This record gives sequence, structure tokens and C-alpha cells, in this order.
Amino acid sequence: MKLHLLVKVLFGPVPVYFSALAILILLTNAQYFGLGGVGVPRATKLASSTPVVSVMKYCDIFRGEWVPDAEAPYYTHKTCGMIQEHQNCLKYGRPDLGFLKWRWRPSGCELPRFDPVQFLQFVRHKSLAFVGDSLARNHMQSLLCLLSQVAYPKDISANPTDQNKVYHYRAYNFTINMFWSPFLVRAREPDHDDPAHTGHYSLYLDEPDDKWVSQVPRFDYVLVSAANWFSRPSLFYEKRRLIGCSFCSRQYGVPDLTLYYSQRKAWRVSLQAINALEAKVKGRVMVRMLSPMSHFENGTWDQGGNCKRTEPVRSNQTVMEGRDLHFYTAQMEEYRAAEKAARAKGLRLMLMDATAAMLMRPDGHPSRYGHWPNEKVQLYNDCIHWCLPGPIDIWNDLLFQMMLV
Ligand SMILES: *[C@@H]1O[C@H](CO)[C@@H](O)[C@H](O)[C@H]1NC(C)=O
Ligand SMILES: *[C@@H]1O[C@H](CO)[C@@H](O)[C@H](O)[C@H]1NC(C)=O
Ligand SMILES: *[C@@H]1O[C@H](CO)[C@@H](O)[C@H](O)[C@H]1NC(C)=O
Repeated sequence: MKLHLLVKVLFGPVPVYFSALAILILLTNAQYFGLGGVGVPRATKLASSTPVVSVMKYCDIFRGEWVPDAEAPYYTHKTCGMIQEHQNCLKYGRPDLGFLKWRWRPSGCELPRFDPVQFLQFVRHKSLAFVGDSLARNHMQSLLCLLSQVAYPKDISANPTDQNKVYHYRAYNFTINMFWSPFLVRAREPDHDDPAHTGHYSLYLDEPDDKWVSQVPRFDYVLVSAANWFSRPSLFYEKRRLIGCSFCSRQYGVPDLTLYYSQRKAWRVSLQAINALEAKVKGRVMVRMLSPMSHFENGTWDQGGNCKRTEPVRSNQTVMEGRDLHFYTAQMEEYRAAEKAARAKGLRLMLMDATAAMLMRPDGHPSRYGHWPNEKVQLYNDCIHWCLPGPIDIWNDLLFQMMLV
């Protein structure tokens, strides 16, 4: 193969006079580009209309390292108008931009860079639903921004002020839905009339939230996630009877079963409900493992903790522990049990195991750059959500590979 042709295949069309330089870089960094040793072709960025094969056939895209990346981010706050204020770190003056200069490199292959044209062509006449909380929305907005290089959707949400959203890409007849369901199961806000003002949510742990579960059969892809809201004080109901609570005192006359009880139960009940759907599920249900909650340093979120790092850490410098580990383990066990049952039924459940990659990115959060310095907000130093642009953009690189399988 002629050299410039090889470059073309590997990098897309580039002027010929850059080819020699590119080849030189390529040859001297063969290992870095994943061409050495493993015998797996680097995923090629072909013309956008070419059908593509998922690299998941070759490697585990969820294990790897973050490596330096010279390319500019896919978008900025100036090019994408769909970034949630609290995650708009560039707008609010985050001074260090080094956190944008990394890409996720799975061990054993290259993760193809997100190609919005290719993605939109692939999802033509299809639909994708995000289910969960503000992290699901964070993920969705990353996708909207990645696609904003090519197209903007029309917001056709029934109620524009609602957390539930519907976006339609007319030229591609592609629909994205956001179902707000932070506990996955049916839940009620704290009762403000409650004279005790205890601020407990009411969770109906054996009642799947039908608002989204009943809609699953309509979608080609449904991405379900939930974690953080189980950390809120809650009352647990089963068969409509109060059976326990979390962060509670004896006043309720039921035991404190801890947040772990509700998190596991909610996943079990939701996944079982999907498996029990009578309507034929045409698409795929994907479960996203939790985004780490442990990136606060020097204190908890309400005790002055912050995340001030400016670089990722390596995989061997991370340990999953505490609440992250408890949640991860339970979520994985529930996923595995449900996946087995789904397979027996011919239903497709898939795992998006993004936790390990994100554990390495304590530098990717808004910290105090999600608002103006003098603004009073609940989570002043936000080490939970992710800056846009930022490392969460790779969730869409991962998602696309999962869709291609
Ligand atoms: C748009 O896509 C939906 C499926 O998401 C399909 O039912 C419908 O027929 C499509 N509309 C057009 C005009 O092709
Ligand atoms: C934690 O606080 C100490 C003392 O204020 C400070 O020296 C240190 O840099 C802080 N560490 C981080 C990660 O913010
Ligand atoms: C982690 O891995 C890197 C690169 O493989 C190595 O240089 C470093 O010593 C390792 N660190 C620890 C704490 O094992």
C-alpha cells in the first residue's frame, strides 16, 4: 500500500505533504498507536459512509489508560450551546485546560474517535433513551455537543421545563429521549407538609417506575443508570408498607437498612421489570455502571472537600473502595443475574462498564467552575458531574462501539 494511502486509511483525508510526517510519527510511535504486537488493526477512520465494525470484537474497551492527546477537544462552550450551566467549566473560567488533552486508550486496541457523521448515519430512523439522573443528562448533553458539529436537534419535549426531554434530528429522523428517574423505581419527594421536616424521599422499592419501563419496547437503545440519589435520606416501602429507611432515626419505628439496601433493590426490580415486559423489546438495554462519587479530597462534599487535580491518574493508582465499591459490586451482581435471565428470553442486555476509566479522572469535574464564584449553589465544589467538554465525552465513543456490536 502506498504510504499516503495508508495515512488516508488511518487518519482520513490529509494533504499528501503531511503524509510523510504522519508516517514518521506513526512509525516512531507504532506502539503508542496500538500497531505493535497485538496483531489487531487500529480502528480505521474511513469515509463516513463506510460501515464500521466495533472494536469490542478485539478488546475490552473498558480497561485501559488515559494517554496524552494532542487533538483539540471535539467542541467548546463557544461551539456547543447545549451545555448545562453547572458543567460549563470553560465558561466559568476553569484556568487549566490540560484536562482536555487526554484520550482513553483501551489495552489492546484503539478507541476510534467519535465521528458525528458516521454516528448520525448509523442511527438514522432509530431512537435512543437515557434513563437516570443528572449524570445521565450530563452524558446526553455530551452526545448533543458531539453531534452539534453536524446537526442541532429540535427540542420536541412535551413540557420544556420538565426534566424529561425529547430531541429530534430531522435530517436523520433520530430521536433522543431523557427519562428523569433518579431512583429507577417509583419515588416521592420529601413531604414538605410533614411537621417533622425530616426531608426523607419515599421509595417504593418493589414498584418499577413505569414512566420509563413501559417505554423500553419503543426504543432501539435504552441506557439506564442510577447511583447518587440513593445517598439521600429515604423511607423504603414494599407492598406499600414502610419496611425500613436510610439515614433515619428510630422515629419511624423501622430499621435503618442503609442506602445499600435501596440501591441494590432498585436495580433488581428495574431489570426484572424489563425482563418481564410483555411487549416485544426491539432494541437493546444497556446498563451504565456508576460514575465514581469518591473524587472529593480533603473533606466530604459538604465539609469543604474539593477536586483540584489537573491530570488523570494511572489505573494502578486507583482503588475502588467505600461507597463506590459497594454500589459497583451490587450493580454488577444485579446486572449479571438479569443478563442471564434476559438471554434466556432472547433479550439483549449490555454492560457499559465506565467506572474504571472515570476513577482515573479526578481532574475532570467542574469543582468550583460550574458557577460564578459568588453564586450560592448547593454543591459549591462539584466533584460528581463532569465538565463539558471533558472526559465524559468518551462515554459516547464507548456507546457507539456498543451500538455497533
Ligand atoms: C422515523 O423513525 C421512526 C422510528 O424511530 C419510524 O417509525 C418512522 O417511520 C420514521 N419516519 C420516517 C419519515 O421515515
Ligand atoms: C488538603 O489540604 C491541605 C491543607 O489545607 C493542603 O495542603 C493540600 O494541598 C490539600 N490537598 C488537596 C488535594 O486539595
Ligand atoms: C504504575 O504504572 C506505571 C507505568 O506502568 C509505573 O511506572 C508505576 O511505577 C506504577 N505505579 C505503581 C504505584 O505501581
